[in-house]
Amino acid sequence: MRRIVLYIFLLSFLFSCQSTKKVLPSQKHLIADKAMVVSAHPRASDVGVKIMKRGGNAVDAMVATNFALAVVYPRAGNIGGGGFMVIRLPDGKAKALDFREMAPGKARKDLYLDEEGNVIPGLSTAGGLSIGVPGTVAGLHAAWKKYGRIKNWNILLQPAIKLAKKGFAISKSEARRLNKYQKDFIKYNPGNKVFIKDRWKEGDILKQPELAKTLEIIANRGPEGFYEGEVARAIVKKVKETGGIMELSDLLNYKSKFRLPIIVYYKDYKIISMPPPSSGGIALGQLLHITENYPIEEWGFHSYKTTHLMVEAEKRVYADRAKYLGDSDFYPVPVDKLLDRDYLKDKMADFNFESATPSDYIIPGGFELQKESFETTHISIIDKNGMAVSCTTTLNSNYGSKVIVDGYGFFLNNEMDDFSAKPGVPNQFGLIGSEANSIAPYKRMLSSMTPTIVEKNNAPFMVLGTPGGSTIITSVYQVILNAIDFDMNMYDAVQAKRFHHQFLPDVIMYEKDAFTPEVFNKLQQAGHQFKQVRALGYVKAILVRDDKLEGSGDERNPDDDVSGY
Ligand code: DON
Repeated sequence: MRRIVLYIFLLSFLFSCQSTKKVLPSQKHLIADKAMVVSAHPRASDVGVKIMKRGGNAVDAMVATNFALAVVYPRAGNIGGGGFMVIRLPDGKAKALDFREMAPGKARKDLYLDEEGNVIPGLSTAGGLSIGVPGTVAGLHAAWKKYGRIKNWNILLQPAIKLAKKGFAISKSEARRLNKYQKDFIKYNPGNKVFIKDRWKEGDILKQPELAKTLEIIANRGPEGFYEGEVARAIVKKVKETGGIMELSDLLNYKSKFRLPIIVYYKDYKIISMPPPSSGGIALGQLLHITENYPIEEWGFHSYKTTHLMVEAEKRVYADRAKYLGDSDFYPVPVDKLLDRDYLKDKMADFNFESATPSDYIIPGGFELQKESFETTHISIIDKNGMAVSCTTTLNSNYGSKVIVDGYGFFLNNEMDDFSAKPGVPNQFGLIGSEANSIAPYKRMLSSMTPTIVEKNNAPFMVLGTPGGSTIITSVYQVILNAIDFDMNMYDAVQAKRFHHQFLPDVIMYEKDAFTPEVFNKLQQAGHQFKQVRALGYVKAILVRDDKLEGSGDERNPDDDVSGY
């Protein structure tokens, strides 16, 4: 008997010594009665739901989920990045919160150009010079202060602090990415003990004591704990050591901004989305205004006519994006004109059903296609009172600039690449820009993030958004059409195959099996060019149906998760 007890004791001791654990499974589809969170990680979704169960509203849940993602989804969840949030209050009022990064005060238009005026490759995508002044902590605090219900800010950070301290088992996809970027981590953060490791594998425990300490400082001091004092000094020190130009005054001056959301009407639906410095709301609005003039529900999902129309609309809308869109505090973005129905009809005047209109100018040297990866992240939430929040947040690339703040354990963004370094020269997403999105001190770089809320009959109908760089806008557009025009439920609308055109390069990016062979051939005959990609977007969405909430994560991202009650 004693032997058996000893044996059991030894076994359990060995088991508890193992450094790997089972990864929490994620759930892609759920129907719930009252409240729901869809995020890129099961632990983060759980955190949001728990906050609502203990009396928090959707904004409280959004704040806590975001901090949790900064721990459990370090490739994109963040405190060193920025984002956008669209909020629909229970009384129907709509708000938009901009916590986008901004250029440091010392940034100049020619920041990334050599003496001959050519863009120096890599400077805007990695290392100190790629880092914009982070907005996340200011933004989350501003959202909570104005609309949160939980009295004590500190409570919203506790789950994240616990996850950072105790650690959690990383997923296969996180392990793969951590391995992929080891060289960069070592280059900018020699000696870092948290993220640098010979080989990461699924189930390894990631503990982040330094990040836990930083989150505790933010929990106790609020945004001042981040934008002033020891954390701010450590950020500036590390940015400068890695070649950047950020000063303490940049952090001190950072402010998130409430802005008027973009509101457009599509059929019986009200679409609430993000204004500049995101291009998302305007571009989505333009696409929907163009689409409403054609009976796509009769033509059918991914039929020749529907696809051809959508692609031709996308080309024209992305051409406008390149020319007119940037931070509206610095450039007079013609919002009303761009969304004017007559203007959009004129834009489609040269559209015809037989042939593709070639994107009308070619950039010397041609275009690189956008790389396929999804490094931003989105959270959709509805609470029991019908408050809805849609938030997309990012470090830009996976793990941002790959620069970690020494002693404080978090990655800094590489959002500066979203500026147009030089008119007509594409960024990492193949997007071009012009004066509207040129670099200036304290200016915010143009984004494609499209956190969106759709209303029907003055009640929330859908909450959605996705990562995917330039493809974010067209993914949101397609999921909306899938639910409204093609009558799909939320899960099917999210999983349906997608395609994307962004004016330049003049090519339709598409997922395998997005079209039948007949439709594909016909589109080719009309002059369209194609490039197959692995995936377009990781959409996280909630649909309100028959008084129930139907949530869907994206099967394209193994970590996506819906949680609710
Ligand atoms: O703001 C933007 O549009 C980009 N920084 C988003 C980056 C992104 O979605 C990365 N995923 N591919």
